[in-house]
Amino acid sequence: MKLSRRNLIRKLSIGMGVLGLNVPSFGNGWYEEGEEISDYSSAGFNMSGYRAPKIDRVRVGIVGLGNRGEEAVRRLSYLDGMDIVALCDKYDDRAQKMKKAITDKKLAEPKVFSGSEEAWKGMADMDIDLMYICTPWHWHTPMAIYAMKAGKHVAVEVPVATSLKECWDLVNVSEATRKHCVILENCCYDFFEMLTLNMTRQGLFGELVHAEGAYIHDLMDLNFSKDYYADLWRLKENATRNGNLYPTHGLGPVAQCLDINRGDRMDFMVSVSSADFMMQEREKEEAAKSDLFKPYVNSTFRGNMNTSTIKTEKGKTIMIQHDVSSPRPYSRIHLISGTKGIARKWPGPEKIAFGHRWVDQKELDSLYAKYTPPLISHIGNIAKEVGGHGGMDFVMDWRLIDCLRNGLPMDMDVYDAASWSVVGIMSEKSVKNGSAPVKIPDFTRGWYKTNQRVDLSLSKGVTTNVRKLD
Ligand SMILES: NC(=O)c1ccc[n+]([C@@H]2O[C@H](COP(=O)([O-])OP(=O)(O)OC[C@H]3O[C@@H](n4cnc5c(N)ncnc54)[C@H](O)[C@@H]3O)[C@@H](O)[C@H]2O)c1
Repeated sequence: MKLSRRNLIRKLSIGMGVLGLNVPSFGNGWYEEGEEISDYSSAGFNMSGYRAPKIDRVRVGIVGLGNRGEEAVRRLSYLDGMDIVALCDKYDDRAQKMKKAITDKKLAEPKVFSGSEEAWKGMADMDIDLMYICTPWHWHTPMAIYAMKAGKHVAVEVPVATSLKECWDLVNVSEATRKHCVILENCCYDFFEMLTLNMTRQGLFGELVHAEGAYIHDLMDLNFSKDYYADLWRLKENATRNGNLYPTHGLGPVAQCLDINRGDRMDFMVSVSSADFMMQEREKEEAAKSDLFKPYVNSTFRGNMNTSTIKTEKGKTIMIQHDVSSPRPYSRIHLISGTKGIARKWPGPEKIAFGHRWVDQKELDSLYAKYTPPLISHIGNIAKEVGGHGGMDFVMDWRLIDCLRNGLPMDMDVYDAASWSVVGIMSEKSVKNGSAPVKIPDFTRGWYKTNQRVDLSLSKGVTTNVRKLD
């Protein structure tokens, strides 16, 4: 059911008051007049900290077998206690290639769904426990919603949604179905990020005041490649939207350090985009060479650099940048600054300071030895061997499957998925309105005040082994 803003306020004032939930304020440009958002009435079950029934052996279906999906198949094949029972891509050759990759490893043959943009529904309807979604962005929410309604947990690549409505839909459906909607934010599991999260917990940086994150990655040639992204989906996003299209790699790790949705929440943000000085020019060059690029020749491309500043309810600030077109080295920044110290990952080498000078390598090594969290100590070296962005992808996969098998709460729940993703959507709103401040919705509806922090202890579960593969 869709509600207009006016009807929604009426419904909220009735329903939510009775439920005793925190009703968000609708002042300060939360939603544009006439914008439709989802029905809140199904809400009422807090998915943060939720322990779903244990699944001894997790049956996984993977959809979207391009760059990321192929890698997911490879990594997940190493995990014991789960089976890849189904594969789906709209292109049959991609699905067949991955089926062969699995059977070549002497693992059971997965069922294949392919040949149409809707084939994944067959997979969501079959006996799987988890749908692992690696498709272009615009498919993430439709697939996740359908699968949760079909009784499946979902793990969704980043960002999980492309509109505010989609973010709320994911929250509402996850709560209503009690199915996990996990954001596959692998960067939260990188080694320095995990170290600094644990050091933050231990109070080494004091009270955090400010954090920075980014996705700065020169994807210019890949965006203008004819076959890297299927059907040029990522070029289309860059040609039709303006803001921070990919906020979660930079935001996720610092949001965990700041206890966002688990003690604090993002309150409002302002976002500024530069003009585009590169993409349209390149588009014209490519369109002159190939008809494939013609549809975007008159598009206004995203500003090359987007810078957003977020203020949290407790008064902390977060700066997030996005630039995937400038010729410059990769960076996610990962800076956290507190009353007692600071950490910064990019530009390398990794740095930590508790005053005027950065600690030397010997001191950094001893901090790693003392504060590396148990998750990394347990699986980090194996993850480095399996690979996937230096190992962080496999740490994430192992933890996801181990939590499902042991009925443990998710490190990255639907509220994290929605709020980290919505920053991109809200950045577009701010940019469109002359960089005006925009409110960031509280998807937890007030539960952030009592939601527990991500558990770094690894005191439960740890029953998932890693296979030796040829
Ligand atoms: N976390 C990370 O580090 C990371 C890295 C790369 C990409 N990603 C994310 O992974 C996702 C996929 O990116 P990619 O680079 O693999 O793109 P890609 O274009 O290589 O792969 C997407 C695949 O989805 C398939 N697909 C499209 N529509 C479909 C449908 N309706 N049904 C079934 N299959 C469909 C395409 O055929 C293609 O094989 C994106 O969300 C991206 O942001 C994350």
